[in-house]
Amino acid sequence: MEETSIAASILNADFGKLEKTLKELEDAKVDWLHFDVMDGSFVPPISFGAPVVKSLKPYCGELFRDVHLMVDKPEEQVGQFVEAGAQLISFHIEATKHPHRLVQSIKSSGIRAGIALNPVTPIAMVQDLLGDIDLVLVMTVNPGWGGQELIPAQLKKVKELRQLLDTNPSSGRSPKIQVDGGVTSKTAGACIEAGADILVAGSAIISANDYSQAVESLRLDHLSPKRHKS
Ligand code: DX5
Ligand code: ZN
Repeated sequence: MEETSIAASILNADFGKLEKTLKELEDAKVDWLHFDVMDGSFVPPISFGAPVVKSLKPYCGELFRDVHLMVDKPEEQVGQFVEAGAQLISFHIEATKHPHRLVQSIKSSGIRAGIALNPVTPIAMVQDLLGDIDLVLVMTVNPGWGGQELIPAQLKKVKELRQLLDTNPSSGRSPKIQVDGGVTSKTAGACIEAGADILVAGSAIISANDYSQAVESLRLDHLSPKRHKS
């Protein structure tokens, strides 16, 4: 079984010292950097856009640059993020009329494509695209803010999706499952148990005094006895 990857969200970081934070996250051995882009329309807050991702690229080191677009009409923005150095772009299926076309356009730029599902959005919405995408992002909170509590019912969705991917060879390549929101050392094990491949963690890492320890405790939960009891 492949080890779970940790994607650190910088949403709740101090934006005045991101260069230092990115270095510390790399030292703490996170696998990915998760950039939460919010436009004040698809979700109420505005976070940052492509120019910020572009400016941070030189400080990302070896970390994989994962852009989560929480914006309306993502098709109008993907080009800027590809330009800015995104290596994977996820967009919300609720935010565009032509998701298949957008997946094609992201992939033709030479990077990976993901689709995000809000808590009320069923798996069926993405089912016909599973053979084309690299990642399904299951929101385990309502998008818009870091630091919220994980919605346990979403883990059922993760489980169903895992089962669907594992039992459906017709979808060709199998996309990875990413969970996003409320992932802490207390919930990480349940997310992995449900079938997640990549855990996004924002405040669980950023608000810790010791990033390495925080990352380690997300990974350790994976090895906790409760995971192996059956
Ligand atoms: C929420 C974002 C998440 C969030 C995660 O809209 O998509 O990536 O920053 O933060 P935590 O881990 O604090 O829930
Ligand atoms: Zn996110």
